Amino acid sequence: MSSTDRDIRVFANNEERTGAVREYILSCIHEALDARNVCSIALSGGTTPLSLYASLSNATLDWSRIHVFLVDERFVSTDSADSNEKMIRQTLISNITIPTENFHLLYTTGTLENMAYEASHDIQAFFGNKPSFDIILLGMGDDGHTASLFEIPNMHNTHTIVVPIHNSPKPPSERLSLSYTTINNAAHIIFLVSGSSKSVPFHSVQNNDTTLPATHIRPLNGDMVWFIDKEVAV
Ligand code: 6PG
Repeated sequence: MSSTDRDIRVFANNEERTGAVREYILSCIHEALDARNVCSIALSGGTTPLSLYASLSNATLDWSRIHVFLVDERFVSTDSADSNEKMIRQTLISNITIPTENFHLLYTTGTLENMAYEASHDIQAFFGNKPSFDIILLGMGDDGHTASLFEIPNMHNTHTIVVPIHNSPKPPSERLSLSYTTINNAAHIIFLVSGSSKSVPFHSVQNNDTTLPATHIRPLNGDMVWFIDKEVAV
């Protein structure tokens, strides 16, 4: 992807950035609903998207046609403060009217491998064939990770839909994550990145530093937009 292909949008503050990414996501949702009467959106954990999720819960949407997935999850109980499911339930799901079956979970039962298998099967069953999410929202750590992908693809370049992660340097160490392959097959990939600690990895990714996981997020047929604040862009 050349630098001219990159869509990088810089904002002065969280409020402006949240408003812009909210409108962009709503446009992607309506595009999917208009085309296929259903929309699939996968959401990341972390702290950056908290205000976005709260903002989306105030949007006028027919959530009966929208399926919410998790980009990744930590191997913790769903009442843990580290649970992405818990965070997304609190900031979005509990504030909207959405059928229970439209919120697709990663943390279920058994071992990490069992959960990865079950989640892969659930996603496969939803899409019927090769998963292609309409929207995937990603964050990025100050080490250049994204989702719960902390190593570069050729170490985990599996075509599994959901991969178990046993060595996350960002605690908790055991996680589940959509694979590079699944993420890159999305129609709209959105990076939401904030804070001066992300500036160096952001520029490294833009300069194609292949040692960073986020560099390997490249939509195969879709598009990718970065929503960043000015501290990241400097
Ligand atoms: C997770 C996230 C992870 C997150 C980044 C950025 O479950 O930890 O999916 O990839 O997006 O670590 O986190 P912050 O938004 O808290 O900086």
